[in-house]
Amino acid sequence: MITSKELRNKWLKFYEGKGHVNIGAVSLIGDGTTGVMFNVAGMQPLMPYLLGQPHPAGKRLCNVQGCVRTVDIESVGDATHFTFFEMMGNWSLGDYFKKEKTAWSFELLTEVFGLDKDKICSTVFAGNESAPRDDETAELLVGLGIKRENIFYLDKSNNWWELEGTVGTPCGPDNEWFYPLTDKECGREHCDINCPCGRYVEIGNDVYMQYKKTENGYVPLENKNVDTGFGLDRMLAFLNGLTDGYKTDLFSGAIACLEGLSGKKYDDGGEAQKAMRIIADHTRTTVMLIGDVNGILPSNTGAGYILRRLMRRAIRYCRALGVAGSAMQDVAKVFIDEVYGEAYPLLPEKREYILEEIARETERFEATLEKGTKEFEKTLSGIERKNEFMSKQNPGYVKETKIGGKAAFKLYDTYGFPLELTVEMAAERGYTVDEAGFAEAFKEHQEKSHAQVSAGEFKGGLADTSVATTRLHTATHLLNAALKQVLSPDVNQKGSNITPERLRFDFNFARPMTQEEIRTVEDLVNEKIREDIPVVFEEMPYERAREEGVVGVFDSKYGDVVKTYSIGNFSREMCGGPHAARTGELGRFKIVKEQSSSSGVRRIKAILE
Ligand code: ALA
Repeated sequence: MITSKELRNKWLKFYEGKGHVNIGAVSLIGDGTTGVMFNVAGMQPLMPYLLGQPHPAGKRLCNVQGCVRTVDIESVGDATHFTFFEMMGNWSLGDYFKKEKTAWSFELLTEVFGLDKDKICSTVFAGNESAPRDDETAELLVGLGIKRENIFYLDKSNNWWELEGTVGTPCGPDNEWFYPLTDKECGREHCDINCPCGRYVEIGNDVYMQYKKTENGYVPLENKNVDTGFGLDRMLAFLNGLTDGYKTDLFSGAIACLEGLSGKKYDDGGEAQKAMRIIADHTRTTVMLIGDVNGILPSNTGAGYILRRLMRRAIRYCRALGVAGSAMQDVAKVFIDEVYGEAYPLLPEKREYILEEIARETERFEATLEKGTKEFEKTLSGIERKNEFMSKQNPGYVKETKIGGKAAFKLYDTYGFPLELTVEMAAERGYTVDEAGFAEAFKEHQEKSHAQVSAGEFKGGLADTSVATTRLHTATHLLNAALKQVLSPDVNQKGSNITPERLRFDFNFARPMTQEEIRTVEDLVNEKIREDIPVVFEEMPYERAREEGVVGVFDSKYGDVVKTYSIGNFSREMCGGPHAARTGELGRFKIVKEQSSSSGVRRIKAILE
């Protein structure tokens, strides 16, 4: 048995022994420069250095970096998917290359982890118009003692690594390492790494990052870098002979806690096991995101919306498991106190804050969960009644199995059900959701709330594009985000008007802001201005923007593809622009008036000095 702590240490010690400096981990929250919301790979914070900038710690680096990937959120519940994981990494920034790297990966796997060289399999890039076939790596591997028949040449979809959806980022062909979980072949003709039986697991990869992805293809980098990533969670399970990632010491405490609370046994499998995995995984990610140095809170926008989705999904599965929503706090305590406190010292420091925020979100959601679930059931029985009636009238009637967009929107708007939750609940009952109809209802709602926007004000684009109004426009986004953070995530824009002299911003909030709140909002906006964050423009399908929780404001004119503007991870809005290029251009932000606009709506007037 190897523990997570031992594995972390072994990794770092090995690479420190090869002259690498442990640079430690950075925030899980993306820095906004690539438009990626979370840190999805160990290389992400190292992007400028892989592109050629000298790193203060030198040319050989290593660490264990937390990553959050939520694309597979629906798959969590099986034995191998996680939304948070740690990536063990090491890098050469224009220093050593394939010869050293293949030798070290081989040494680590065979000597430190005791794997059998005759069973190790490796895949290398088969080559295409952008980069040649990687015979060099293949020959080095054979030279080390890996059997030639255990080396496979695969195409770009397998053996090329880049950050999806970005340009200007480093990338390259990779060499992936595989090992069989068992020696017993499944019976198919070639039970090798390509066999669908899953006998072989990928345990990690070495990326030879020597290209930069541009709008017009891949251009060679001056530096030849190495970017290595081995997933700690997966490796830990693998080294312990486990096929279930929730059986390692990272999760055993959380699972035991849920077993104790529910009186159910994880090993009995079925729905209870699935629920325990989901609660454990989502709670771990929640702890990490709230407890991060740039910690976030659940909200209706950006990264906060993803966090809310995770938390609400966990809370719903607490119910399914038959435990109170407070179970999430109990599981969080296990992660902080017993599992991650040492490797992530900020977690014990922020312990009470994390637990309080989990309690608050649980309370918020539970207040409406029951009513929302009733509403959901009502919608389903309505459809069922109609199906029954129509089938009687006409035996050939094709039964309706789709929940309408308006109903889904009501669950979102009134009961706080993220759309994905409704979709998942529907799927459990054999139904789908009219997602386009949901988007439509969402749009209509926004149009109504902006009905008071008068002629002359911008709708999806500025009428007056002077530099002053452009800056005030960007300031409006910062203000919107700051209000959400300082007052409540439920604060939303109700109207906006910009002249070259000032911005005016209306938003829902029940009482006058205090002097202190006004100052805090001003300070927060000015802090973001000082940080001189680039304002990043990106066009994306409306569906994806909504999916990623981009704040939709002037969506009356939104088509299928929407324009979005992001300011780090602080603000992300659909908007026609134009905007300042960087927040540093704005000058000093000052709120000159805060007053009532109409019932439940406040109005701020602000200037840039
Ligand atoms: N960047 C590579 C990965 O994420 C190492 O797998």
